[in-house]
Amino acid sequence: MRDLLPPSVAVAVATAADFTGELHPAERACLSATAVESRRREFTAGRVCARRALGALGLPAAPVTTHDRAPVWPPGTIGSITHTAGYCAAVVAHRHDVRALGVDAEQHRPLGEGVARLICLPEELDWCAAAPDAVHWPSVVFSAKESVYKVWHPLAGSWLGFEEARVRPDPGAGTFTALLRPERHAEAAAHGIPTELTGRFVVEGGLVRTALYLPAR
Ligand SMILES: CC(C)(COP(=O)(O)OP(=O)(O)OC[C@H]1O[C@@H](n2cnc3c(N)ncnc32)[C@H](O)[C@@H]1OP(=O)(O)O)[C@@H](O)C(=O)NCCC(=O)NCCS
Repeated sequence: MRDLLPPSVAVAVATAADFTGELHPAERACLSATAVESRRREFTAGRVCARRALGALGLPAAPVTTHDRAPVWPPGTIGSITHTAGYCAAVVAHRHDVRALGVDAEQHRPLGEGVARLICLPEELDWCAAAPDAVHWPSVVFSAKESVYKVWHPLAGSWLGFEEARVRPDPGAGTFTALLRPERHAEAAAHGIPTELTGRFVVEGGLVRTALYLPAR
């Protein structure tokens, strides 16, 4: 994720050992007692990375708990976590630099037709079909929308559906824009969220990675 975010954002990408690292007791309490092994491993890697990123900002490695599925960052900080098979990253920044952060990683592979139709608007599918064919573009649109949600939800506190943002990658620039549906513009304005968000993406090593951030005002 280092390649997708400004230097004010600390980035930690998990090593193999991080998936079996130590959780803070407050973090362990956020993990369901019935969580399967794969969930324990990804949750652990996310928290180990989050605390490493906090350390890189010069802050104590405080626990990162969970509320309503979202990570709760130590006061004065904001961050985001993502995991997919074999990859996990956490990013953190000081709130005086950054207001919102969203990162996402997905496997770079075709989405099933039904899944693609759930995630992508018809105009997005049309764009994907006409775009350079070395990339499975619906997976890029999917990842971008997950990053948008991770920015949207902590600020607005509400659900945002896949059909409520239109994502358009720029293959040459490695950027994407996400245009919110007009019905959500008033809510976006109320929370200081631009109605058109710009993020970055990269497709490499079998993964799609996306990142989005809003600078402090
Ligand atoms: C929450 C969601 C975005 C997570 O994305 P994902 O690709 O499934 O999974 P990732 O591994 O990338 O991210 C999971 C991490 O996201 C974080 N997360 C969960 N809910 C979150 C929220 N509401 N806000 C911010 N971050 C959140 C958590 O840190 C979680 O990891 P953890 O449980 O180990 O702490 C996704 O499951 C979801 O609910 N999406 C539907 C909403 C949406 O995407 N709308 C599109 C709007 S255009």
